[in-house]
Amino acid sequence: MTTRRPERETVLHSWTVQARWDAPTVVGGEGAHFVTADGRRVLDLSSQSECCNLGHQHPRVVAAIKAQADRLCYIANAWGAEPRAHLAELLLERAGFAGGRVFFTLGGADANEHAVKFARQARGRPRGTIITKDRSYHGASYAAMALSGDTRTRAAADPVAHGVVHALPPYAYRCPFGTTSDTACGEAAAAHVGELIARAGPHEVAAVLMEVDAGTNGIVPPDSWWPALRRVTRDTGTLLIADEVMSGFGRCGEWFAWQRHGEAGRPDLMTLAKGLTGAHLPLGAVVLSAEVAGALEHEMLATGLTYCGHPLACAAGVAAVEAYADEGLIARSRALGRPLLDALRQLQTRHPVIGDVRGGSGLFAVLELVRDRATREPLAPWPDAPAPLTALVRDALAEGVSLATRGHLILLAPPLVIGEQDLADGLAVLDRLLARHFGAAPAAQGSGGGAA
Ligand SMILES: Cc1ncc(COP(=O)(O)O)c(C=O)c1O
Repeated sequence: MTTRRPERETVLHSWTVQARWDAPTVVGGEGAHFVTADGRRVLDLSSQSECCNLGHQHPRVVAAIKAQADRLCYIANAWGAEPRAHLAELLLERAGFAGGRVFFTLGGADANEHAVKFARQARGRPRGTIITKDRSYHGASYAAMALSGDTRTRAAADPVAHGVVHALPPYAYRCPFGTTSDTACGEAAAAHVGELIARAGPHEVAAVLMEVDAGTNGIVPPDSWWPALRRVTRDTGTLLIADEVMSGFGRCGEWFAWQRHGEAGRPDLMTLAKGLTGAHLPLGAVVLSAEVAGALEHEMLATGLTYCGHPLACAAGVAAVEAYADEGLIARSRALGRPLLDALRQLQTRHPVIGDVRGGSGLFAVLELVRDRATREPLAPWPDAPAPLTALVRDALAEGVSLATRGHLILLAPPLVIGEQDLADGLAVLDRLLARHFGAAPAAQGSGGGAA
């Protein structure tokens, strides 16, 4: 019998230095835990890439995939497919996009690329300018890299060639507009987009594309920002595309994060992936309002993907949407978000290294680690990973807790099904490890628990 070569010798792993890759192999999972090949149960505090919102191996989604596999695995997008039509209807209902349409993709990057195509086509500006922002992430294909404001890929991305202009972000902790309140920072960031639209010429700009809330780069915008951005885009006749790839499906306490602002936050298009199937199968989507879909109705849609609207993935999507609804998971995330934020603020009182705590509209929160709270100097220049934080993540895994970091940020995004005690236990581990790696904190009362 031949021995299999270790994965590190055969596979390229994303967003890592290959020579340093040494992650354990995962062989199973259930709820908020996954199981490694050596039999360890690990509490997943990041939902992998903020995508396993339903937890691991959700039984309803797994059963739906099996049932659809027995019936029909694949039919091209040129033909009709029952789970595809069903899922489109469910998404339009949840978004309140009556009369709209859905285009399915394989993930978030291609959803964003297609949203840009559709916005440009609908506006009759095939190369119209797209405004996005710095410190954003919209995917790793070339056009999505150009849309992203991501320093890791800046040298390889070509925003000019893709007609992309980057705005300054609504990053209230380090407000680029020099404001001193969250509200003012959000309003200034929206007004700045208005200035960019005016500078480019409103007839040159096709759309503004931005993450509404949770995102890979760890900025949680102030509540004032999105409605102000909607006003600016509406007033200038610019389409607004909400990238809900990470913030959708309960991550921020609503089906889609813009819904927190009611009608005042409604975008013209939105992009989805990740939680759409709870990551059980790859699937993305662009949801178009009736107005945008109407503009495309009698024109050739000159795009497509062999696997768009794949029946297996759409069946997983239908089961996922039903599970979120029937198990009350969107409301659960909203209910647990605030206590999570409070628990993290408690940690902040004990650990000077925590400069800022943000999030909490749902089960998504960010800890920003600094050298000095007064100067807000980051623990390492963005987007470098500070060595003690890397060591903390390693130790957490040894204690059975998986944490996600970006640069000097810790992102907490547990599955929406996580038990309250599990969440409290996970935060207690974090509390202990912050003390170990960043200096002793005064003895914690009942550790870092009380998250929920
Ligand atoms: C906000 C946002 N948009 C787009 C993407 C890209 O999605 P995908 O990796 O499925 O292409 C991501 C992935 O992290 C994301 O967080």
